[in-house]
Amino acid sequence: MNDDLRRRPIGVFDSGLGGLTVLRALHERLPDEDLVYFGDTARVPYGTKGERTVLAFARQDAGLLVAQGVKLVVVACNTASAFALDHLSEVLPVPVLGVIEPGVATALARTRGGPVGVIGTSGTIRSGRYQEGLGRVLDAGSIHARECPLFVPLVEEGLMGHALTDLAMEEYLAPLRAAGIDTLILGCTHYPLLKADLGRTMGPEVDLVDSAEALAEAAAARLAADSLRRRDSDDRAVSDRSGEMKFLLSDIPWKFAEIGERFLGRKIDDVRVVELDELEATGRDLDPGS
Ligand code: DGL
Repeated sequence: MNDDLRRRPIGVFDSGLGGLTVLRALHERLPDEDLVYFGDTARVPYGTKGERTVLAFARQDAGLLVAQGVKLVVVACNTASAFALDHLSEVLPVPVLGVIEPGVATALARTRGGPVGVIGTSGTIRSGRYQEGLGRVLDAGSIHARECPLFVPLVEEGLMGHALTDLAMEEYLAPLRAAGIDTLILGCTHYPLLKADLGRTMGPEVDLVDSAEALAEAAAARLAADSLRRRDSDDRAVSDRSGEMKFLLSDIPWKFAEIGERFLGRKIDDVRVVELDELEATGRDLDPGS
């Protein structure tokens, strides 16, 4: 396997800045790997949009990362994973991973017999992808899915621990509490920031599955299996190197610095703005036949 390939960055894309929770988990799990992040901040949110649109956007986002020379594409966005992962696996020239499978596998490994809950955007929940995955092991009566569209804006406004968030939690999660779930999949990039609120609402007996952590674990396993982990020139693991992060965004939103830092846990620098023309062109280049 050639070194050049192993030294390439991992590409991560999301509808906006929420996927920085996945970038953070990847950096923690694979600290020596370089990471390129694309956030489609000009067209966020994806969670309220229809399948056709999300699929078209996801093609362009992934195409942009491929044009950056990445060795693996990680779809951090749950909504894009739900609608586009199968298609991207067919057309991308590099391996691609989404958040849904790792989240499902972790929940199935951790449940003490169910029922299991999953929360996400309207698109993610209505796609039925999490339910399908869980349904390979659990019967339909043990799977409880809820769309929670207000959670994304609440997190973006920094309203964790706020009375407004408590109200929204009560509204959305009461049926999951009543169902007596023992495990809850956080099926959206933004929800890891709500862990404390969710813990209070659901109670300590409900195990919260963070899709970001599950995905980072899956990415590490996939790179190892494909011999794509970064190695030094003597083919040894590089342990003392801190990987670089590059950021591409399709817009710089007003609260970019504040929101970005909230998700990533540190300041974001090295940002390049990508014009929508460039994005559309990379989507077309990906696989002109499809
Ligand atoms: N990134 C999206 C997800 O994980 C949430 C934000 C959006 O709706 O675009 O589903």
